[in-house]
Amino acid sequence: AFNLRNRSYLTLADFNTREMEYLLDLAEQLKKDKYAGVEQPRLKGKNIALIFEKDSTRTRCSFEVGAHDQGAHVTYLGPSGSHFGHKESVKDTARVLGGMFDGIEFRGFSQEAAETLAKYSGVPVWNGLTDADHPTQVLADFLTAKEVLKKEYKDIKFAFVGDGHDNVSNALMLGAAVMGMEYHVVTPPELNPSEETLAKANAIAKDTGAKIVVSNDIKEGVKGMDVIYGDVWVSMGESDDKWKKRIELLSPYQITMDVLKATENPNVIFEHCLPAFHNLETEVGREVYEKFGLKELEVTDEVFESKHSVVFREAENRMHTIKAVMVATLGD
Ligand code: CP
Ligand code: NVA
Repeated sequence: AFNLRNRSYLTLADFNTREMEYLLDLAEQLKKDKYAGVEQPRLKGKNIALIFEKDSTRTRCSFEVGAHDQGAHVTYLGPSGSHFGHKESVKDTARVLGGMFDGIEFRGFSQEAAETLAKYSGVPVWNGLTDADHPTQVLADFLTAKEVLKKEYKDIKFAFVGDGHDNVSNALMLGAAVMGMEYHVVTPPELNPSEETLAKANAIAKDTGAKIVVSNDIKEGVKGMDVIYGDVWVSMGESDDKWKKRIELLSPYQITMDVLKATENPNVIFEHCLPAFHNLETEVGREVYEKFGLKELEVTDEVFESKHSVVFREAENRMHTIKAVMVATLGD
């Protein structure tokens, strides 16, 4: 028997295949129980701190709703309003919060800060996104693919199309390695994933049978894939002057209906962690349009709204999977 109690979740590499499968199965069970109205609260009396150095819609709401469903209480510390990152060191904050809370979610810039929080708080810390990783996202992405494709995890073929340095792509790559999947990063040569990330994923893949491929050819890279995955071309915390270069490099890698067709898989699904830029209904989308004339960025509106797109099921699954992480590491 194994148990994940008191474990932190800072990166996908923190869990092995069986442990990840356990979290995914638990999420499925919790989702079923909630739908059936028979969910049992296993986090009663727990206090959870949510630290957000960057903004969030899905991740924050998933932690809040998941905790509430399970009987826990949350305290939200936003990008402003606490001393975190300005007036008090991460190490000191960790020791303060560790004395009051049973678990801590952290979304911020540095992966190192997440590690420091875990080391000095003495309670489980869950990474809600850093510049380098986004481990809770990947659980929702995998569960969604399994639900829709009705395949076993190890048989699902993922292609991330976009910036090969992206935190979500890095996280998916490690997750695919843990689960023994085939994973393609389809990206221009200038944005190939770092040697370090590839080495980490390949070291895990050696034991699980996963296959990690970097492809600069979009048609070849997506052929035979089950999931086409997109993310923004410029991430939170990156400076706005990145847009020009990224648009130049990534425009040929926009996810269009032709890209879905190139998979030669009629059942292919489109996933995206969201938020997405597929129309002019956002502030950033309009700014980019005014400067560069593009109405759609990483994905066309046609793909986003198509029958292939499972992005809102994926967003809902953030909550069920995050709930599973909290229950597994903190639950009675
Ligand atoms: N996908 C995701 O993490 O979304 P938020 O930034 O809204 O939390
Ligand atoms: N790569 C994106 C993911 C958002 C969920 C970012 O870091 O902004």
